[in-house]
Amino acid sequence: MNLIVSVIGAGTMGSGIAQVAASNGCQVTIVDSFPQALETSKSKLKSILNRLVEKGKINQEKSQLIISNIKWTTEMKDISPSNLVFEAIVENMEIKQKLFSQMGQLVSDDCILATNTSSLSVTGIASICSNKSRVMGIHFFNPVPLMKLVEVIPTEETDKKLLSEAKSSLESWGKSVVTAKDTPGFIVNRVARPFYSEALKIYEEGLADFATIDWAMKEFGGFRMGPFELMDYIGNDVNYSATKAVYDGTNHDPRYKPSPIQKKLMDEGLLGRKSGKGYFDYSENAVNPEPNKNEKLGKKIFNRILAMLINAAADALNGAIATRDDIDTAMTTGVNYPKGLLKWADEIGLNSPLAQLKDLHTQSGDDRYIASPLLEKMVISNSTFYA
Ligand code: NAI
Repeated sequence: MNLIVSVIGAGTMGSGIAQVAASNGCQVTIVDSFPQALETSKSKLKSILNRLVEKGKINQEKSQLIISNIKWTTEMKDISPSNLVFEAIVENMEIKQKLFSQMGQLVSDDCILATNTSSLSVTGIASICSNKSRVMGIHFFNPVPLMKLVEVIPTEETDKKLLSEAKSSLESWGKSVVTAKDTPGFIVNRVARPFYSEALKIYEEGLADFATIDWAMKEFGGFRMGPFELMDYIGNDVNYSATKAVYDGTNHDPRYKPSPIQKKLMDEGLLGRKSGKGYFDYSENAVNPEPNKNEKLGKKIFNRILAMLINAAADALNGAIATRDDIDTAMTTGVNYPKGLLKWADEIGLNSPLAQLKDLHTQSGDDRYIASPLLEKMVISNSTFYA
């Protein structure tokens, strides 16, 4: 079935969601309160589609069809015929709640209302709605047309039939869909935290510099980017906010504690690629330090960060945030990890990350190294995540 889709918010994410829906034959209405945002969204989409035509990925007819499937408007009432509405406005609970309450009065009772929030509680957003059963989180990754992963987040009250309809539609658009519990950071933004924070801790301890840590993760782990180049790519403001949201949302679980360096960089405007400088310098003719390619040091760094990542994945499984398969799929398709973390844990043996964590805890006394009870239990019973 070709859905009638609306997207509220014509920014980076809303425009990407609209592009994907329209490319898959849906009639799409994009609403934004700012006419200028609509103009920008439209002209950016046109240039994206022109590039796709130039590269031979789509033909001119398809490009025109996609554009003609989308209507850009400031009129909220135009969402009324929709089957599925995506909210992608500013990340603010009160503003989102107000919008959900307004949307609820405009659409039919079985229209799905989805929020693309990264860090707010979906249950909190739904709490304002008289019909909570049709509200869910549908969390896309940036850039939406390129990133396959979508995390779907039901609340306790989400209707199972609507949930399954939403998942089927996303899958028919070529997305890889995982289900996550409504907890801070869902799967990816929670489980990936140690990739950044343990790298920062290693730097803070003076064990290695940014370039060496990045090299170690690529050389020994097969990661496409090291933690520091990735933070610079994401933006140090965005990355700091994501870390803080998970830390605050987990009642200050020490495992998710932001590093003071992240805040300092953000406050100083050293945001990474977009500002020209972050952990590395992106200005013309800049000379960045070379890594210290010491194998022993590199392996030590990699094993330590991997142990922390495996611990976060095991703890997500332990907290029933998602299934084993969904956790592994989320990390390989959402952040391009070379392997699912639980599969990786099985491959190296669970003893190894557990021993690392215990060692680090003893040496530092820092509770960020407390092992997940699931990891402890599995080592005692000599079990594995996969049969
Ligand atoms: P953005 O700032 O690029 O776009 C937001 C748009 O919403 C703006 O055009 C603004 O004019 C419009 N807007 C704000 N309040 C509105 C209202 N009440 N009614 C109608 N339009 C309104 O934001 P972005 O980056 O697209 O993010 C949108 C949502 O997606 C946020 O909740 C964000 O946390 C989430 N998200 C963002 C990701 C990213 O990488 N940028 C990744 C995943 C989720």
